[in-house]
Amino acid sequence: MLNLNKLAKLTFVYQHELDGLGGAVRLAENFAGTDPCMVLLGDCVMDSFSELPVIGQLLKVYEQYHSSVIALSEVPPEKISSYGIAAGTLINGDILRLHDLVEKPSAADAPGNLAVAARYVFTPGIFSALHKITRGVNNEFQLTDAVKLLMASEAVYGCRISGKRYDLGSIAGFIAANVEFALRRPELQEVLGRQIINILKEKNIL
Ligand code: G1P
Repeated sequence: MLNLNKLAKLTFVYQHELDGLGGAVRLAENFAGTDPCMVLLGDCVMDSFSELPVIGQLLKVYEQYHSSVIALSEVPPEKISSYGIAAGTLINGDILRLHDLVEKPSAADAPGNLAVAARYVFTPGIFSALHKITRGVNNEFQLTDAVKLLMASEAVYGCRISGKRYDLGSIAGFIAANVEFALRRPELQEVLGRQIINILKEKNIL
């Protein structure tokens, strides 16, 4: 942790009111200024199958199109209502030009199965859009609604990411991700693996 301070200058802002992801990102407006910026949500880890991390893949798209770009991953129908769902036209490999984005739709109303995967690169235009939106789903200011508004004035792209998604927003997801990443460490794999098997046997789960 201490080394992080040597790698980057960290600035914190606090969101004192629970008014959604849109409200939180809006607080970074002065920090971002007129530069493009990235938003990385801490409750999701994406283990990309590509050698580039997800944000690296988005930056490549940004460099090509100089437009906002969002990471997307396919989700099964029962998970659709947990995410922002995007739709667009496939233009190149895994890149889509987006024309729709809906926050937490029902599976029946969703424009597809491509879910926003917690990583975004934005042009400064996102902040003017964040000032124009009203409260949306859950009575919160939704970043998704601002992105949808941004699409009316600028191109917004999506980048399909293949990889495994770990949702840390639930207790089970958080623990499962820790176990899985711990099991990748050679010094922990065998001893932890055996402990987990023993626990499961004791609880009659295995
Ligand atoms: C937020 C976004 C949603 C996105 C999700 C995961 O939802 O509003 O569009 O799909 O993160 O990236 P939350 O997890 O805050 O409910």
